[in-house]
Amino acid sequence: MNFIDLTIGGRVASRIFQGRTPAEVAQFLEGYPEIFIVYDSRAEVWAERICDALKPSGRLVSVCSIETSEEGKTMGTVLELEDWLLGCGAGRDALLLAVGGGVTTDIAGFTACIYKRGIRFAFVPTTLLSQVDAAIGGKTGVNFKDYKNMLGVIRQPEFTFICPEVLESLPYREFVGGSAELLKTFIISGGPDYLRAVSILSEIYAKNGDFEGYGADIQELVMEAAAVKAGVVSRDENEGGERRKLNLGHTFAHAIEHEARKTGLDITHGEAVAIGIIQAASLADSAFAESLRKDFEACGLPVELPFPLDTLKQAMTLDKKAEGGIVHFVVPRSVGDVRIEDMTVEEALSRLG
Ligand SMILES: NC(=O)c1ccc[n+]([C@@H]2O[C@H](COP(=O)([O-])OP(=O)(O)OC[C@H]3O[C@@H](n4cnc5c(N)ncnc54)[C@H](O)[C@@H]3O)[C@@H](O)[C@H]2O)c1
Repeated sequence: MNFIDLTIGGRVASRIFQGRTPAEVAQFLEGYPEIFIVYDSRAEVWAERICDALKPSGRLVSVCSIETSEEGKTMGTVLELEDWLLGCGAGRDALLLAVGGGVTTDIAGFTACIYKRGIRFAFVPTTLLSQVDAAIGGKTGVNFKDYKNMLGVIRQPEFTFICPEVLESLPYREFVGGSAELLKTFIISGGPDYLRAVSILSEIYAKNGDFEGYGADIQELVMEAAAVKAGVVSRDENEGGERRKLNLGHTFAHAIEHEARKTGLDITHGEAVAIGIIQAASLADSAFAESLRKDFEACGLPVELPFPLDTLKQAMTLDKKAEGGIVHFVVPRSVGDVRIEDMTVEEALSRLG
């Protein structure tokens, strides 16, 4: 069993375990007297495995399934879950285990953080994106009005349990979307992982998305990426500096997702991030942006902006991290050389225009 520690101020704040199958998570739940599980209905088969493993302990109090979507990532859903916990009599000792993708872990984490001023929570991420990113680092929250992830808190889960089996039911399109966050992490960290990931992901794409036989490679990459993220968060939990780099591509991605909601375009978060990374690279060096574009295309990721740049302008200024009109753009210059550049949206768009 592999694990990675996420430490804050020299203390282990959260642990990322790697296992084979979701039922193995039961061994990490032994010390918790009351367990509640919230799961994404599309990950039901995996949640059932966990429930079956936990039932003999008598500590599994209640289970709740949610239909997830970005539109449903709201306070309304959080309040429904609060109501469920309260109705079941969940006490301050309860642990909320979330089984699902990033939408589920963000919602459930936030629900746990505010229930009775905070109960413990843990994650079994079931998408590639949530295994490498959303379920690590303690950012929880929901969308509000026009803003993505506007309401939330940073608080670390007790643990995150990563296992390859849950990806078996994941649609390939979601797998590819998750690979954007995987590649993002390795562009930030540098070293050989980026090229290794491109090589494996492009092989899978060339095989029409059949990732059978690649489980071990994928899990190795996932744990490498998880270790990178845990390291960054350990050094800068509250995003005062280095953690901002993990937003690579996200200023553009959130604006693309915002326009997509308005126009009804079907695009996943990961797809928007891939396009956003190319735009962010174009802020500095068109040759590097071009090489990323080729790599991403080879991995099956979209690379073209689905909307004209100027239609994204207003949505980009909605970036909740903007301060006094200045946005912290994350600009990759080469693999391993990623910098924060503060500029207005107008300045950024003029560089791209
Ligand atoms: N907290 C963070 O640090 C952080 C980081 C990155 C992204 N996020 C958030 O994560 C979200 C995106 O995460 P996501 O891509 O996992 O989205 P998601 O949770 O919506 O999952 C994507 C799709 O896959 C389905 N699904 C999940 N697991 C499945 C499985 N095993 N088999 C079949 N289908 C399955 C879901 O129902 C959904 O349709 C966004 O809301 C984003 O803001 C948060």
